[in-house]
Amino acid sequence: MAHKAQSALPISAPTSLLTPIKVPQRLLMGPGPSNASPRVLAASALPLLGHLHKEFLDVMDEIKEGLRYIFQTNNSLTIAISGTGHAAMEAAIANVVERNDKVLVAVNGLWGARVFDLSSRYGAKVTTIKKPVGQVFTLEEIEEGLIRDKPKLFFITHAESSATVLQPLEGIGRLCHKHNCLLLVDTVASLGGIPIKVDELEIDIVYSGAQKCLSSPPGASPISFSPRAWDKVKNRKTKVESFYFDLIQLANYWGVDDQPRRYHHTGPISSFYALREGISILCNEGLENSWRRHKENSELLWNELQKLGLELYVKKKIARLPTVTAVNVPNGINWKEVATFIMQKYNLEISGGLGETAGKVWRIGLMGYNCTKENVQLITAAMYDALQQQRQGSVKSSL
Ligand SMILES: Cc1ncc(COP(=O)(O)O)c(C=O)c1O
Repeated sequence: MAHKAQSALPISAPTSLLTPIKVPQRLLMGPGPSNASPRVLAASALPLLGHLHKEFLDVMDEIKEGLRYIFQTNNSLTIAISGTGHAAMEAAIANVVERNDKVLVAVNGLWGARVFDLSSRYGAKVTTIKKPVGQVFTLEEIEEGLIRDKPKLFFITHAESSATVLQPLEGIGRLCHKHNCLLLVDTVASLGGIPIKVDELEIDIVYSGAQKCLSSPPGASPISFSPRAWDKVKNRKTKVESFYFDLIQLANYWGVDDQPRRYHHTGPISSFYALREGISILCNEGLENSWRRHKENSELLWNELQKLGLELYVKKKIARLPTVTAVNVPNGINWKEVATFIMQKYNLEISGGLGETAGKVWRIGLMGYNCTKENVQLITAAMYDALQQQRQGSVKSSL
């Protein structure tokens, strides 16, 4: 039993905090976070170690090695940033961009817009190539932008989770290098679930998040820098403006340089345990098997939803994300009531759209631990039930 401590302080402890935390168990099938695997959750409950203890540094080394496998890269500078996907996004920009550098951003949804904002904050001269939300870029469109703006960095999103489109990456790295530019790719909603081979694709900087296909809680985010990108960081004329994301310091803490490892910040111990375990689960399954599982289950989901009479937001199958699917909200159906019904009755989260898709679609995620045939069947049954409810409701109200 928790007791309220006697205190003469003018501000007392909130009564809500006098008992242990309680949260409901939910199935998270929106665009993320997804449920973490129980094995990952058990790892994150292991005893804390010091952030420079040998055993903890060994865990960090395992993360580096595992990420090289998952990214399919030999980049020695492959680490995890302490923070969520945005932290890795910011670390990429903060290190590679100097004031007045030209940055070209491909915008076809929320994430390009976010990188536009971030790069401007770091003083870059940012330009864009744009496509309507839900469409992807061709190599010709990208090359036109590279020739027009002569950027030092080009950004594109692999898995645009707001519009649920999959950007083909083949050939973009080669184009960027032909035009003397580095390629930065966001793989937050794809890494581990959709094929990506960083070295083969000549990607210079790539980052991701833990809470999607890596079956881990948000908090530690993979990132990798090619030797070309690392050289650019080492040859900066000015210091990295962020202390926390300074790659030279992080490389030392992660044991990538030749110096003894020093304190830079306290690594988020439990988040690194969790990420290590999420990576280990992927290593056990094998990347190709994980990619196949995501493809098969998403195709099953698309078929099941179409059998219910629903339309998918991205028409071309090849451009559809296997990890997050957007479904058009039919006329006369209230998307929010459907999502709320499913949450209340099934304890299951699906989400609405984001940015331009807000109010027009539902987004259903099938990622990592949650990407199973059983979950496809469950969400199909829940959608059927919710749509029946809605239709009966509208019949009643028109009587
Ligand atoms: C494609 C993409 N990029 C970046 C992010 C940002 O990651 P976080 O919310 O972990 O900061 C997300 C999050 O959903 C995402 O889907």
